[in-house]
Amino acid sequence: MRNPHEIIEKNVGLLTVLILIAISFGALVQITPLMFQQQVMEPVEGLEPYTALQLEGRDIYIREGCVGCHSQMVRPFRAETERYGHYSVAGESVWEHPFLWGSKRTGPDLARVGQRYSDEWHRVHLMNPRDVVPESNMPGFPWLAENTLTGEDTAKKMAVFQSLGVPYTEEDIEGAQAAVKGKTEMEALIAYLQSLGTYLK
Ligand code: HEC
Repeated sequence: MRNPHEIIEKNVGLLTVLILIAISFGALVQITPLMFQQQVMEPVEGLEPYTALQLEGRDIYIREGCVGCHSQMVRPFRAETERYGHYSVAGESVWEHPFLWGSKRTGPDLARVGQRYSDEWHRVHLMNPRDVVPESNMPGFPWLAENTLTGEDTAKKMAVFQSLGVPYTEEDIEGAQAAVKGKTEMEALIAYLQSLGTYLK
């Protein structure tokens, strides 16, 4: 007798359709429950939105491609939590647009780097990483210390974040340019780095 499965295996069209159905079903089962879980939509207690300066720093982090070498996601494994600290939870990232979780780790994870080093350490490290970590292969970013921010678009960016549900007040937005203008890109990036992962109690 002919194996009924042979019919599927020998008919590419049918096989494709059935594979698509199987995958869609699997995705539904995984994704749908997440959409209704409060735990992944609620900010952790005490979470603060990025200040104007930190938000600019985050844009510089994106522009300079830091995410290509650094993840921001401590996974719930012992080797990770012993090295980096508490694993990342969804409530820490609810106001992140887009997420910078990343997956490439040429350098260490940065999800909990905030407050681990002094501002001065970061400044020296970003100018030339080998001055503090001799074996480092991270590139230097000396131009960040020279470029200053005008803050022209900062308020607009914050308004967009506000429309996405980030709880910025009108005051935050009005004061955005003044908070940023004249600061160097280095200061903004360091302010951002120092905030990472510091809200989970
Ligand atoms: C080519 C890959 C690469 C790029 C791009 C890169 N890094 Fe790194 N980074 C590394 C490596 C490797 C290390 C570990 C050695 C060291 O500390 O310098 C590191 C270390 C760090 C550390 C110290 C982390 C710790 O826990 O000790 C910070 C902070 C950091 N990088 C920030 C940045 C920022 C901000 C940018 C973007 C402006 C950036 N890196 C871009 C590879 C990279």
